[in-house]
Amino acid sequence: MSEAEVPQSTETADDTPTSAVPRHVAIIMDGNGRWAAAHGLPRVEGHRRGVEVLRRTIRAAGEIGIKIITIFSFSSENWSRPAAEVGELMGLLRRFIRNDLAELHRSGVRVRIIGERAGLAADIGRLLVEAEELTKDNTGLTLVVAFNYGARQEIARAARRIAEDVAQGRLKPADVTIDSVGGYLDTADLPDPDLIIRTSGEQRLSNFLLWQSAYSELVFVPVNWPDFDRAVFEGAIREYQQRERRFCGLAAKTAPTTPVKTGS
Ligand code: FPP
Repeated sequence: MSEAEVPQSTETADDTPTSAVPRHVAIIMDGNGRWAAAHGLPRVEGHRRGVEVLRRTIRAAGEIGIKIITIFSFSSENWSRPAAEVGELMGLLRRFIRNDLAELHRSGVRVRIIGERAGLAADIGRLLVEAEELTKDNTGLTLVVAFNYGARQEIARAARRIAEDVAQGRLKPADVTIDSVGGYLDTADLPDPDLIIRTSGEQRLSNFLLWQSAYSELVFVPVNWPDFDRAVFEGAIREYQQRERRFCGLAAKTAPTTPVKTGS
C-alpha cells in the first residue's frame, strides 16, 4: 500500500484530531527468534535486526501522524530466557539509549519508560532516568518503552500503593474508581492505546497493557518483527481505520478515559 492511502493526521487549531490516524499505537515486537532461525542465524541476530526495524518504525510513526508509540521491549517474563540472551537484550537497550538518545531528542521525541525499575542494573536505571529527563519537555512523538514490564505486575504495584494510601488515610475506599486506579498505573499520564499491533502471527496480549487495552483495537500481522516495514505498518493502520469503534455503545471517537496531557 502506498503512503498516500493512509489518511494523514491533520489537526485543527484547537488540536482536535480530524482524521482516523490512531493517536496511540502500541506494538508487541514478536518473532525475532523465528526470523533468525528461518535465516539460519543465532537468535541474537533477530534482536539486533529488531532494533534497526524499531528505529525505522519510530520515524514512520512520526511521519504518519501518530502521537504516542509504546513498544514492548523486555517483559517481566523475559528474565527466564537463557542468561546470554537476557544479557544481549540488556546490551541492546544500553546501546539503543546511548546511540539513539541524542537523535531522538533532536527530533523532538519525548521518551517515557514503563515497567519495574527495581532490580535493574544500576547503569541501566541511570540511562532510563537520563532518557526521560533529557526529553521530558519535548513536544513531538512520545516514545513509551515498556522495559521489565508486565501488566499484572503493574496492576499489583498499583493495588499495593492504593492499599497503602487507604491505610494512611490519604485515599477513601469510595474514591477507588476506574479513573483513580488509572492514576496509579505506570501509564498514569498517557491515554490508552487506540491500536495494539502484534507481529509474528501470535494472537494474544502476553501480559501487555491489560488494563489500558480495554477498548483498544487489536491487529495481528503475520510477519516476524524483523520483517515489519512501512507497508505492513500502514496496512495495520488501515485495518484499524476500517474498524468501527463502539466503546460498548458509547458514541465516542476516542477511548472513554479522562483527557490527559500527552506532550503534543
Ligand atoms: C520477541 O521476539 C522480542 C523480544 C523478546 C524483544 C524485543 C526486542 C527488540 C526488538 C530489540 C530490543 C529493543 C530495545 C529498545 C532494547 P522473540 O525472541 O520472542 O521471538 P520468537 O518468539 O520468535 O522466539
